[in-house]
Amino acid sequence: MSFVFRSITADELPAFANASSTGFGESNAWFERERPWAASSIERTIGGFEGNSVVSTSRNFPFDMTVPGGASLHTAGVSAVTVLPTHRRRGLFREMMTRLLADAVEHEEPVSILTASEASIYGRFGYGPSALAGSVRIAKHELEFSQPRPAGRLRLIDVDEARKVEPDVFERLRLVSPGAVSRPDLWWYHHYEPSFGTRFDVIYESPSGSIDGYVTYSVRDKWGPAGAAHVLAIRELIGCTPDAEHALWRYLAEVDLVQTITSHSVPLDTPLTWLLTSLRAAGIGTIHDNLWTRLLDVPAALGARTYAVPGRLVLAINDPVRPGEAADGTFALDGGPDGATVSRADTEPDLVCDVAVASTAWLGGVRWSQLAAAGLVEERSSGALATAEAMFASTPLPYGYTWF
Ligand SMILES: CC(C)(COP(=O)(O)OP(=O)(O)OC[C@H]1O[C@@H](n2cnc3c(N)ncnc32)[C@H](O)[C@@H]1OP(=O)(O)O)[C@@H](O)C(=O)NCCC(=O)NCCS
Repeated sequence: MSFVFRSITADELPAFANASSTGFGESNAWFERERPWAASSIERTIGGFEGNSVVSTSRNFPFDMTVPGGASLHTAGVSAVTVLPTHRRRGLFREMMTRLLADAVEHEEPVSILTASEASIYGRFGYGPSALAGSVRIAKHELEFSQPRPAGRLRLIDVDEARKVEPDVFERLRLVSPGAVSRPDLWWYHHYEPSFGTRFDVIYESPSGSIDGYVTYSVRDKWGPAGAAHVLAIRELIGCTPDAEHALWRYLAEVDLVQTITSHSVPLDTPLTWLLTSLRAAGIGTIHDNLWTRLLDVPAALGARTYAVPGRLVLAINDPVRPGEAADGTFALDGGPDGATVSRADTEPDLVCDVAVASTAWLGGVRWSQLAAAGLVEERSSGALATAEAMFASTPLPYGYTWF
């Protein structure tokens, strides 16, 4: 039987959610909680149908993503990509990805972004892991801070207050954090539902009374022969100032009965390591891909960001997935701290690479020289790698704060 691919109707949303849950091998208990978010941008869903049955799911959410220099770029956030286990490896995913990329271009989104379940899936479609993260597992008794405790106040707040204050604090950080995406109200709506278990929110107020950060966490109680050995799992720690971040880590380090503190993901330039007397105590473990990006329009994407130092480069980018389109060809970049211009060029390139590699390097989270050392970038003119590396460097490192 052949398959039909189309956006779903509101009536089909529960079946779409069921198919997606089955594809991820999980219960669909999330659906009622997240229904308003799931129903948003429904016209940008792409379901694969066999007769009336949904056998594959995918969608684009519109997000604004911050790029180095602070501009916000319209991006397409790929989500809910699944194929039923009975229908795998028959090309349904490939068909949906082809359509999702075309949908992003149609909506004038020069970059497609995603968070991936497996690192092996998306490179073939031109995506690169442009933001990396580390997991954290801290033995609380090892934490000793080297810096004096920040002035300012910590306050436990309830969910209603969290709902009011946290979005503004997050948005403040989002606007200066490359790789961070906007969170629509509906996203926050499901973020706040209590079915995640015990949830605590703490905010940090500066001495002048500005709310500069918050942490959301849960505690799983664990009693052993020697007493309490609770695990504190950080859901999100957002600090808009160094003092806020320091104060919140210190707060977590002092919660009684807790033995272990975990976080699935922290930025690789987290100050935590250097706030401690022993960098090993920070417990940074596996480094993993955090945000994947896929350039669709090179002039728009490279022209939206600023560059750490002034420079000129000609990049030849090969896009085998979308040949002849706006991420395929030779482009001249003339950029610096004030902005950039990017145009098609017919001169000899300085650097040559595939679109997945250019997408990886775009936000400055992965160094061009590291990619070249792996044979992924060809340097045609001497010094071009060093120029690219200096230009593309980003402070802070890119980091996608939102799982979608
Ligand atoms: C990942 C998934 C969507 C792939 O669906 P599919 O219909 O089997 O994929 P296709 O048949 O279209 O395969 C397209 C290509 O991707 C490759 N591929 C598919 N799944 C892959 C995986 N998990 N790892 C590595 N390669 C994979 C195929 O081998 C094929 O490669 P080729 O064209 O170069 O030969 C499906 O396995 C799935 O639902 N997985 C569980 C949910 C999930 O992890 N989704 C991703 C969320 S980020």
